Amino acid sequence: MSSIGDDELRRRKLEEALEVKSLRRIISAYLNYPEAAEEDIRRYERCFRKLPLAHKALLSHVPLKFQKLRWCVSQNSYFIFEMLKAFDPPIDMSVGIDVSDDLAIKNAPFKNLSSSETNLRPSESGSNSAKLHNAKVHELSSGDAGAYEDPRPETINKEKKIQSLSENVGNCSVASEPNGMVKSGDASSCQSIQNSPSLFSAHCCDGHASSSPDWLDPSLQFHVPLVDVDKVRCIIRNIVRDWAAEGQRERDECYRPILKELDRLFPHRSRDSPPACVVPGAGLGRLALEISCLGFISQGNEFSYYMMICSSFILNHSQIAEEWTIYPWIHSNCNSLSDDDQLRPISIPDIHPASAGITEGFSMCGGDFVEVYSDPSQAGAWDAVVSCFFLDTAHNIVEYIEIISKILKDGGVWINLGPLLYHFADTYSQEDEMSIELSLEDVKRVAFHYGFEMEKESTVATTYTTNPRSMMQNRYYAAFWTMRKKQPTPIGEQAAENSTAHDL
Ligand SMILES: C[S@@+](CC[C@H](N)C(=O)[O-])C[C@H]1O[C@@H](n2cnc3c(N)ncnc32)[C@H](O)[C@@H]1O
Repeated sequence: MSSIGDDELRRRKLEEALEVKSLRRIISAYLNYPEAAEEDIRRYERCFRKLPLAHKALLSHVPLKFQKLRWCVSQNSYFIFEMLKAFDPPIDMSVGIDVSDDLAIKNAPFKNLSSSETNLRPSESGSNSAKLHNAKVHELSSGDAGAYEDPRPETINKEKKIQSLSENVGNCSVASEPNGMVKSGDASSCQSIQNSPSLFSAHCCDGHASSSPDWLDPSLQFHVPLVDVDKVRCIIRNIVRDWAAEGQRERDECYRPILKELDRLFPHRSRDSPPACVVPGAGLGRLALEISCLGFISQGNEFSYYMMICSSFILNHSQIAEEWTIYPWIHSNCNSLSDDDQLRPISIPDIHPASAGITEGFSMCGGDFVEVYSDPSQAGAWDAVVSCFFLDTAHNIVEYIEIISKILKDGGVWINLGPLLYHFADTYSQEDEMSIELSLEDVKRVAFHYGFEMEKESTVATTYTTNPRSMMQNRYYAAFWTMRKKQPTPIGEQAAENSTAHDL
């Protein structure tokens, strides 16, 4: 048996420390939410105070709006804090993170370390449907109008169990696979907060005084850049898309056609041996859940801790439908029809996930799609792959397509819906950030090369995490297709085909 060398030990320690650091950064972003929102409100107030008296008199109701905004922020913060308390970090958060990142990274014996990624050691844990290895990480969007994801990568790290997602869900064994990774960017910009203001007071505004885990101690938190807090705001909008009645229109536009197509393609599904479907880039998990409810073994795959923390909370810890009230639209004063519209409450979740009627084998797998599903154990493991607003998250879309083809059984189907807003296009901040940006025509050409045949193709007009009452509605004309992975041609027919080809 070979012993682990000093270098390997050092590398593992470093990976662990970096992962803890990146997860702390994400948790800190959540915890910084109230403070950042308060900053915004103070800025609105400063501007208001600068108005001439006559103008102020015209707008005498506005100071009250600012107070209402504060109250809405406190409600959102309460939800966020309860969500964090329910999160069971997959790693030991007490691990020291006092690493000089630059130095450590330079000296660490990583084989393929780039500014945005690390090769990860394989997971030691098994899985229900397959062994999933080598997860890497990424993260989430900052969702400016028009763009649905922030392409900038963030932390780095190694894989670990994200969370067991099965506590309160009856038969909903939303068992999480290991490999929950985060990828964080400029870790050097993070600093520990000294004597951080009480971030939690706002959370507990309704008198709920519940204990919080050690790793939520403010002294362990970072002060994070605003762009990180923006990701939290983006998650709040994603909650509406996936888990609110108000998101129904988007779900009808995006998820319903996919579900109808799965239903058509697998008409004779049996409870004893359901077809297996994987949903890469599953976001907050609603589509994966709906696919499970349709009678599939469904596995969502997601590599953002921002997303996983939230989806785990909703899937596993929801007690009833409409348990929580949040105010998702308060952070933009633009394009509002009225203050009431901007400050309207949203109840979540619109359904109780545990009572939705899932099929056994529903899981959420944390980790980078490329790393997790390149594992040989995944080859030919799936009857269907469903990618919704996912393809363009690739550094190398050809690699995504190659993997999708590999993990499908012969004759398996790939349903895709989404635009081609390449997430790593124009990332000027990251030198030489890999980004292969193909046209739709070329994407299809690549798919055909990897053995796909187009069965159905159309365009779907849809929004993405858009406030349905906003005066601005950015629409995507998303490509929607069903492709089938060709069955290998039987040898006899192959010979005949070849001879015909020669004859020609
Ligand atoms: C635009 S969102 C779409 C989410 C969901 N499919 C939907 O339609 O709402 C893309 C998702 O893919 C995730 N993602 C991006 N790159 C990924 C990767 N390499 N592996 C796994 N998930 C990834 C992001 O974190 C994000 O949640």
